[in-house]
Amino acid sequence: MIADAPLASPADLPAPDPAFRADLVALRRELHQHPELGFQEHRTAQRLRDWLTERGFEPSAPMAGTGFVVDIHGDRPGPMVAYRADMDALPIHEATDAPYRSLTPGAMHACGHDAHMTVACGVAVLARERRAEFAGTVRVLFQPAEEVSPSGAPAMIQAGALSGVEAIYAIHMDPSQAVGRFGFRVGSLTAACAPFRVTVRSERSGHSARPHEAVDTVWVASQIANELYQLPGRVTDARKAAVLTICRFRGGDALNVIPSEVEFGGTLRCVDGETLGFLREKIRRVAGALGAAYKADVDVDFDITLPAVVNTTEEVRRATEAATDLFGPEAAMPIQLPSMGGEDFAYYLQEIPGCMVRVGSASGPDTRYPLHHARFDLDEGALPMAARLMAEVCHRHLNDSSSRRS
Ligand code: NI
Repeated sequence: MIADAPLASPADLPAPDPAFRADLVALRRELHQHPELGFQEHRTAQRLRDWLTERGFEPSAPMAGTGFVVDIHGDRPGPMVAYRADMDALPIHEATDAPYRSLTPGAMHACGHDAHMTVACGVAVLARERRAEFAGTVRVLFQPAEEVSPSGAPAMIQAGALSGVEAIYAIHMDPSQAVGRFGFRVGSLTAACAPFRVTVRSERSGHSARPHEAVDTVWVASQIANELYQLPGRVTDARKAAVLTICRFRGGDALNVIPSEVEFGGTLRCVDGETLGFLREKIRRVAGALGAAYKADVDVDFDITLPAVVNTTEEVRRATEAATDLFGPEAAMPIQLPSMGGEDFAYYLQEIPGCMVRVGSASGPDTRYPLHHARFDLDEGALPMAARLMAEVCHRHLNDSSSRRS
């Protein structure tokens, strides 16, 4: 689906430092050409390490597999703020005609993580240029495996990436908005997501002519599926967004044999964790009760639940003001409704305050394809702008924090 909203032309935007922009664009294109899937970002991590080392930074030892951090110290000691980028690509075969398109068949940076890493490098460069102006440390995190489960953020936290950090910021590209615009939301930005699987079994498989002599697992599974679809909004407060989608339904081979096993699964997504916990329990009970009523064995399995990204008030205010001050009041847009998608930045926000900013990245037909589309691409004008914004946000965070302490 492609949005039809009018987009600001990139020519209207303030001109960034051309050398800085060229440096970022070159890095982004190189990362884009060599996408790697979650926890396999070896070449990507090495390229980032080389890029940073050539410019005088000192990347940490590897953490969480391919991840690492870079600390940029201000001239005086003080608090620490973090900025996070994700490194992995998706198992999608790129369909763009871009000269920098993926050279790896079946892998593509279709979620803009190439841009996120590039912006993080830009934040490091800009933070260091201004180190005389702040007390404390800007820590830039390069995190593996945002797209897979279990994902990279908990592993980074486990490895100590947040130790001593008082708040964390990040961006996500947004092809539904024009380049030069930044989206902000206090509270939930994404939904909590629980993947699930329901298995219906019986030893009494049988002839399609006489289902009453068997246990019809296909019929029982479809009764359960129907019931599950009706739960959001019937047993939960309709004002609290929840969506259950079944994406897989498997069972049977022959057209005249009732199979002994049927499995289906999908995702349950809710903006608030309480609703999700309640529905998870209801799904177990409803599936179990229907299985018992029709004499089938039913198992319900939930994978790891990804929490919602919940942005904190103070951090959103700071980032919104920075966007307005740098790029004008038109640049900062409130986001009315949370996305029902998921983002593992949520794990950091369970530990410390922070804010994820949506970065408009569209300027024409080639850059309006949605995230995870085989033709996804972005207007590279977003790179230097996002780097300037997020370096400014980190800088302001440290200054605010230091003045609170003194
Ligand atoms: Ni993403």
